[in-house]
Formats: sequence, C-alpha cells, structure tokens
Amino acid sequence: MKPDNHPFQARKISDCVYWVGAVDWTLPEFHGYRTERGTTYNAFLVMADKITLVDTVKAPFAKEMMSRIASVISPDKIDFIVSNHAEMDHSGALPEVVGQIRPSQIFASANGVKALNLHFQQDWPLTPVKTGDSINLGNGSLSFVETRMIHWPDSMVSFFDRDGILFSQDAFGMHLATSQLFADQNDRPTMQWQAEKYYANIVMPYSPMVEKTLAVLEQKKLPIQMIAPDHGPMWRTARDIEWILGMYRRFVAQPRTRQVVVAFDTMWQSSQTMAGAIAEGVSRGGGLPRVFRLNNDHRSDIATEIMNSGAVIFGSPTLNSSVYPTLADLMTYIKGLQPKTRTGALFGSYGWNQKGREELQEMAAKLGLELVDEPLFVRYVPTEEDLRHCVELGEKVAGSLPKNE
Ligand code: FEO
Repeated sequence: MKPDNHPFQARKISDCVYWVGAVDWTLPEFHGYRTERGTTYNAFLVMADKITLVDTVKAPFAKEMMSRIASVISPDKIDFIVSNHAEMDHSGALPEVVGQIRPSQIFASANGVKALNLHFQQDWPLTPVKTGDSINLGNGSLSFVETRMIHWPDSMVSFFDRDGILFSQDAFGMHLATSQLFADQNDRPTMQWQAEKYYANIVMPYSPMVEKTLAVLEQKKLPIQMIAPDHGPMWRTARDIEWILGMYRRFVAQPRTRQVVVAFDTMWQSSQTMAGAIAEGVSRGGGLPRVFRLNNDHRSDIATEIMNSGAVIFGSPTLNSSVYPTLADLMTYIKGLQPKTRTGALFGSYGWNQKGREELQEMAAKLGLELVDEPLFVRYVPTEEDLRHCVELGEKVAGSLPKNE
C-alpha cells in the first residue's frame, strides 16, 4: 500500500521523529480517574540510521499505530523498540507490534524487563538499560534516566540528542484527546487544568521522587528542545518547557493556598445546608471555598482541587451507622494520593447514633488530617444555632490558612 493510503498517518514532530500514537477520543475513565476529554497514547518513530520505536499504545489501538508507522516506513525496517514504561496503556500493543516488527532489541530498565516478562511471558530480545546508558543510533543516540516510582518501579525517560527530545513517558503528560499535538496549539487554561489533574491523580503520591528527578535532569543539563510525554500534547517552545517544569516544581511543593475544599454528600439536605453555612464562614474568614457534592462531582476533580488547597472539610450524613458510601469512596481515594493538604474539619448529621461520625473521624485520622476543632454533627436537621456553629467552624478553618499567598 502506498504510504498516503494508510487510514492513519504519522505526524512529523522534528527533523527525524514522527508521532505514531493513537487518540482515544471517548475514554471515560482511567483507573478511577474521570477522563472527560479522553486521552492519547503517544508513541514515537525515531528515523535515525537505526530506526527506533519509542513506546507503544494500548492493545486495542495497535492497528492505528501500525497504520501510522506504515505511512512512513515498512514496520519490518524498525531496528529497536524502547519501552520506557510497562503499564498496559504503553505496552499492551507489544505482542502484536513485536510480532510484526521483529526488532533486534527491546530496551527497558531492569525493572521494565521484569515487568514485561511478567505481563507477557514472551521470548523477546529484552535488553536492560540503566541511568547513564545510551544506545548508538548512528546519526544520533538515545540515553536513559531511570525514574523509579514515577510512577511504577520500571519507569524511565529517554533523551534523543540529535533533535533534543526528552521522551518522558507519563511525566509531564495529561489525559487530553486532541488533534493539536503541541501544547502551544491548545488553550492555556485547558493545559493547566489537565496537567494539574494528571499530576494530582497519577503522580502526586510520588512527589519526593519527582523532586529528585527534577534535580537529576537539571544536573545533567540536557539540551532539551522538546518534552514528549506518553499522554497529551508535547512541549516544544522554550517558554512551554520552562512552564511545565515550573508547574512540576509547584506541584511537588504543593504550597498551601487560601482555597478550602468542602466535599460532602447529603440524604435529606441537612449536610447540604451545613455545607452552605460552613462555606459562608470560610468566606467570611478570608478563605476561598470550593464546595463539591459527591453525587455530582467526581473524586478525581476533587482530588485536584485538594492538591491546590490550604484545607479540606469533609461532610457526611449517617447511613446504617456508617459514613455515607460516597464519602468513604472519596476518602479512600485521597488516602492513596497523599496530598500535602492536612488541615481541615468534619461535619455531618445523624438520627439516633453517632457511629458514622466515629467512622469519619477514623478515616480522617488515616489521612493524617489535623482537625481545627471537634467534628460538628447535628441530630436530624440543623437548627439556627447549629448553622451559626457551622459558620464559626468555617471561620476557624479559614483562620488556620496562611496569611499571605
Ligand atoms: Fe500512562 Fe502509567 O501509564
């Protein structure tokens, strides 16, 4: 078939590198994270003397990727594959791809080699590489930096010196399906929100490792012309590269802001009424309340706003002597993400026993949440006096926030 006749076409992103990934326009969610704008699985064809495919795509998109590759070159001409990350959204297509390409070597970190063997049990020519190693591609080379636990033990990044491209796998990425391959072609508020959301929901627990990796990349003084992650647009201008690196420094630091997340659910509007009064108090105290009701707002959006906050307040009705299920879901999810936001308060309602309140306190303790006051639970329906207490609680939380932002 002539190159132009392939249904999916490669897109040139530099002198000798093509984007050959796939666009998952309607992906609804990614392990618990709502991907309301879909995602891309980026893969890159390095057309050096030794032709190299960097990363692959999720299994159902193998044919889309192979079509894009075939629009440039017959796949059997590819010499090497680099697997920066073994998670299935980047390795799932490997069985089909390796079968067609028959590469002479597949490079991955030592943990990556183990993970690929555990996932696929194939007799592939896997070659482990480590930080500082590089492979000669003839008219350029690819060097490797392991980025363990950003966000799997196998994770690494690769740098193609000829075109100055850092293939950064999940780091610096976002879940955003778009035909605009570069960040500078997309609007900045979308870039910012999706980069924040991706960090909060995928990378945040590994912030100490991100800090170390940023230091290593700085120390190596790589002449980076482009950062090409495995999801979402690429960063190709000096301004954008500095912008996303600066964002990552801020995500690592998670400075406390004057924003306060109030996340609650409600059965008969008692917790809802209380949430409104607490938000009133936060606002009167000089904080910026962001109020989320869990039957409407998604845990992954709330997690992003918690990362951007100075405090968090959880509210729950009591159902069958327990915390409301949506609150339990959110708090379990947040516990795994380990945000630095650790100041807050609890509120809710009950009918005839306070076991839900006790459970909520236990869950807050597991988050390491330092409460500014005792949990505020009311019986059945809040009175005017109860609502005054809610306002006071909101003011107290706002009083705990840093004075200058
Ligand atoms: Fe995009 Fe960790 O996989």
